Amino acid sequence: MTYQDFYRRSMSEPDAFWREQAEAIAWFKKPDEIHFKDEKGLHRWYKNGKLNTCYLALDYHVENGRGEQVALYYDSPVTNTKKQYTFSELLEEVRLFAGVLKGKGVSKGDTVIIYMPMIPETVIAVLACARLGAIHSVVFGGFAPRELAIRIDDAKPELLLTASGGMEIDRAIDYMKIVNASLEEAKHQPEACIVYQRDFITAPLKAGRDFDWKALLAGAEPAEYVEVEATDPLYILYTSGTTGRPKGVVRDNGGHAVALKFSMKYIYGAEPGEVYWAASDVGWVVGHSYILYGPLIHGCSTILYEGKPVRTPDAGAFWRLIEEYKVRVLFTAPTAIRAIKKEDPNGKLKQQYDTSSLKYLFLAGERCDVATLEWSEQLLGIPVIDHWWQTESGWPMLANMVGVELLPIRPGSAGKPVCGYGLQISGPDGKPMPAGQEGIVLIETPLPPGCLPGLWNDTNRFISSYLSAYPGYYFTGDGGYIDEEGYVFITGRIDDIINVAGHRLSTSAMEEVVASHPAVAECAVIGINDRMKGQIPVGFVVLKGGVNKSEAELEKELVQMVREKVGPVAAFKRVAITQRLPKTRSGKILRRIMRFIADQEPYSTPSTIEDGSVLGELEMLMKAKGIGEPKAV
Ligand code: COA
Ligand code: AMP
Repeated sequence: MTYQDFYRRSMSEPDAFWREQAEAIAWFKKPDEIHFKDEKGLHRWYKNGKLNTCYLALDYHVENGRGEQVALYYDSPVTNTKKQYTFSELLEEVRLFAGVLKGKGVSKGDTVIIYMPMIPETVIAVLACARLGAIHSVVFGGFAPRELAIRIDDAKPELLLTASGGMEIDRAIDYMKIVNASLEEAKHQPEACIVYQRDFITAPLKAGRDFDWKALLAGAEPAEYVEVEATDPLYILYTSGTTGRPKGVVRDNGGHAVALKFSMKYIYGAEPGEVYWAASDVGWVVGHSYILYGPLIHGCSTILYEGKPVRTPDAGAFWRLIEEYKVRVLFTAPTAIRAIKKEDPNGKLKQQYDTSSLKYLFLAGERCDVATLEWSEQLLGIPVIDHWWQTESGWPMLANMVGVELLPIRPGSAGKPVCGYGLQISGPDGKPMPAGQEGIVLIETPLPPGCLPGLWNDTNRFISSYLSAYPGYYFTGDGGYIDEEGYVFITGRIDDIINVAGHRLSTSAMEEVVASHPAVAECAVIGINDRMKGQIPVGFVVLKGGVNKSEAELEKELVQMVREKVGPVAAFKRVAITQRLPKTRSGKILRRIMRFIADQEPYSTPSTIEDGSVLGELEMLMKAKGIGEPKAV
């Protein structure tokens, strides 16, 4: 089978194609229809199909002879801990914790927020929710209380699950303090918080609200899986949008399970029984799909790594894990490779380990520069595959589908469209662009199974953000072009979303915080190129009249404010005071042009600009302050 034939068939006969792929998972009741539209007119998959995602990830494998295989390796250099769970053991843990949740009143359709570090209990909690048909929403640990509060108020959880702390290299993060602050800010209050106490930090529990995880487990009865509809939500994952308010991306059960199973085999070329490692965090979509659900549904062993690519203890950490667990497929962000390359440019540490089990390295989460791709290819001597997707899609949209056919790798390109994704590069008028010319990346609707069916409780925003601008297409928010041979090159976001070290963030959220400082008259936060993190945010600030504050003083205050309100993960570290910002005559700040200036890219002065001379001033300001650098190719 060639990629071309397989892809064509997915597009010409989508119902037959996705019916066949659905055969790969164990339904309690097979769907009556493959693609259909719901009462709101939105595209859905697998009508009346019944299943349980936790059953697919665990029970199914135990019932089919995989019980003794390791399902989860936990490797935590930051706490000096290693642990492993077979499918049978993990199932028992999940059954018991599902019993805890049930005992606290959680049932099908309820929401549960999980604000936890990278420990096995997080995986257990997520799967326990799925077992009961409850909808989990994991919030990444690097977000500040306000961000957690926004998510609590939107998801309105029955319960909040947390741990006493996380460990960032050698610094303990007090999770309970963040949870307490967020609950003070949130209007919605969950019925209870269940807290996993870690050895290195003990959280004080609030009587009547907080319950000790281990104590509850001691008295729990195991709970069995609940049948859900294919279209029932499995989880909500909040992601940065173009406003300060995050979007609650919804994932259903049926399409998700089919898509992930399909991707494990055909995109990643993984076989059941192999070890698949996504070096990411459960708080991001990569963690949901490829630390948790994808490998487990496919019968692979997965790794939960509580550490960094460097400094835990050194830049050989990834290679150690590959040797120790005989990793077959590794997935990480280019930033992680850049961090390793910086510490160990000649790959000396790599020579200490046997990485011969590794067949493929997949990279995503941000644009991958050619130098990083080539460096890792040379170091590992295996295909390194850049692939592109989003929280919204939940699985890759562009890739090299190595499980079908390994196509020649074109550095700089994220590959060709994955089965089910009809990709078009359009001009602003929606008309297709010729090969080689940059435009907006659109995907034909219906999107394939597994992609978001909507935003949590906000159909209007779902339609206005993604579907209404180009009828018949899903708007990805990315720019790019396609070459003569069909390889797609993603050039970056065309909106105010940035990717800092593979973490998706909204500059608007940061701008809101900066604008709230009493000395700030107006401001713009833009994402500029950064050699290590891909992009970093920089704030440009116009002071209110009469304010007498040094740039260094203001920078210190604003950096602290953004850490407190958005979180350290934003990596907001730089502020420049400017006399004015470039604006259109109607007052819109020209952030895109500012970005071009910082990235030293050519731009043309827009005809709508109020006063073009401000651009020259900004150029001089950035040069004087050493802000910006050209994009690595
Ligand atoms: N809880 C609390 N704080 C967290 C956190 C968490 N789960 N994750 C990150 N942070 C904090 C960090 O401690 C750091 O704080 P600091 O400014 O006080 O040092 C800040 O958020 C930024 O973190 P990070 O982006 O991890 O930067 P870093 O400089 O510590 O490490 C890399 C750089 C390249 C090693 C790291 O970004 C990395 O491993 N990237 C891989 C990307 C990835 O996994 N992407 C996910 C999508 S595939
Ligand atoms: P997230 O929703 O966090 O997965 O971030 C999605 C965004 O990350 C995309 O819209 C892209 O802007 C960017 N992205 C992800 N993968 C790639 C890639 N391989 N190349 C370029 N950009 C990428």
